[in-house]
Amino acid sequence: MPEWLKDAVFYEIYPQSYYDSNNDGIGDLQGIISKLDEVRKLGCNALWINPCFDSPFLDGGYDVSDYKKVAPRYGTNDDLKELFEKAHAMGIRVFLDLVPGHTSDRHPWFLESKKDEENEYSGRYVWTGHAFEGIKDHPYISGMTPRGGAYMLNFFASQPALNYGWLKRTEKWMSAVDSKEALATREALKDIIRFWLDMGCDGYRVDMADSLVKNDDENKSATAAIWRDIRNMLDHDYPEAALVSEWSNPVQAINGGGFHMDFYLDHHGNGYNTLLRDYETEGGDNSYFRKDGEGDITRFLNDYLPKYNATKENGYIAMFTCNHDTPRPARTLSDREMKLFAGFLMTMPGVPFVYYGDEIGMRYLDVRTKEGGYHRTGSRTPMQWDTSANYGFSKAEPEQIYLPQDSAEDAPVLSTQKADPDSLYNTYKALIAFRHSHRDLQADGDFQVILGEKGRPFVYQRGEMVIVINPSQSGAALSLEELAGKKAVFVIGSADTAHIGAQSFAVFL
Ligand code: GLC
Ligand code: CA
Repeated sequence: MPEWLKDAVFYEIYPQSYYDSNNDGIGDLQGIISKLDEVRKLGCNALWINPCFDSPFLDGGYDVSDYKKVAPRYGTNDDLKELFEKAHAMGIRVFLDLVPGHTSDRHPWFLESKKDEENEYSGRYVWTGHAFEGIKDHPYISGMTPRGGAYMLNFFASQPALNYGWLKRTEKWMSAVDSKEALATREALKDIIRFWLDMGCDGYRVDMADSLVKNDDENKSATAAIWRDIRNMLDHDYPEAALVSEWSNPVQAINGGGFHMDFYLDHHGNGYNTLLRDYETEGGDNSYFRKDGEGDITRFLNDYLPKYNATKENGYIAMFTCNHDTPRPARTLSDREMKLFAGFLMTMPGVPFVYYGDEIGMRYLDVRTKEGGYHRTGSRTPMQWDTSANYGFSKAEPEQIYLPQDSAEDAPVLSTQKADPDSLYNTYKALIAFRHSHRDLQADGDFQVILGEKGRPFVYQRGEMVIVINPSQSGAALSLEELAGKKAVFVIGSADTAHIGAQSFAVFL
């Protein structure tokens, strides 16, 4: 397990929306390079960059047409190499986004695979035996290719599923997990992983990591076995590299697959989801961090604690402010509520991820879909750097900008928030610095719940520290032996050992 993960605080960058260095309206790699200092100032020491590879962009770049080539709109492979080098010189690691389950239907492998004549790539994707035969319980496309056969989709219609084999094989055309063609796909994946690691990349966020083997068992053991094999390769050849999975099942991903980290995703009804974007509760939004949310932390803890306890020896659960697929926190939370959430995120075990713009409370915007984003597009708008044209994102004409930006008078802006000691930005910055300076708060540090009941402050211990969170509109008395002799060392709102104010967060040491 790479040591550096213990103190990692990641920053996710959606490359088309971060900073446009050549004024064509689209963010790019040189743009990221020129803003590395901003990442460092915030205190983040690792980046996850969403896919920046060649692509027709029918799914924001998750439809890769060349895994080994930077998309021209972002720059060149040399720019990416420069980004690795400059980031490393500043103490920042860089993760790329690995899409192992599917490619674009314009990837050269697929162009070969769909040919009638048998060739090296005929078995690279999942195909049925003939054009009139579908795939039970899975989406597929038939009638579009010279090759007779239906091909399986892994996501959108432009994203055919790569063939890693089937565990339960009920049809003749289903490859075994250890068949020649399934193993060839796995080797091709390893080759891609090595390609960027050899160039200086520090690891990958793995897209739909649970989607490799079809008809897998309920533990996803065949998919996990592939990742275990890849973990062995990393341990052996790249011991400082790490992987974080989009899986949201840490027992399967970390214990089974050997992932270093697994994302706790925005899945309706799971524990994470009840914290800040509680879509489902009858009678309105009862997100824990809302002041009117009725303060029920048990919905989080009942889901989180078994997962945390089962995996803490082997890896880290990664929680995020949001990501490129979810609504931003500002959609449902006030500025103060976002600060309390930031306090929580930066004092919990595991590895925290901040999505670009969430550190200033950028809003979820009502904009038209772009590049297969649909409702996700509202969280993908360009960063609001300053009060100049296009919020300093680009000097292009406004109609050329990748996506429209926040037109509200009070749209959050980084430069303004930097000057305000009480801003969300400065709260994030202070919390991240605080996390880095206390060993007890690191990813692997001890974590014990002291008080986790509905309607009461949430209190937990990290080593010598005790953290108290009270999102409610009224203050609460504290009488806890764990607080005896301690002092409040970080406070949002108001707190002492006998009382926590309304909407307050405090760390006692
Ligand atoms: C993941 C990505 C999402 C993408 C999908 C298909 O969920 O986060 O943006 O559309 O996979 O690759
Ligand atoms: Ca550009």
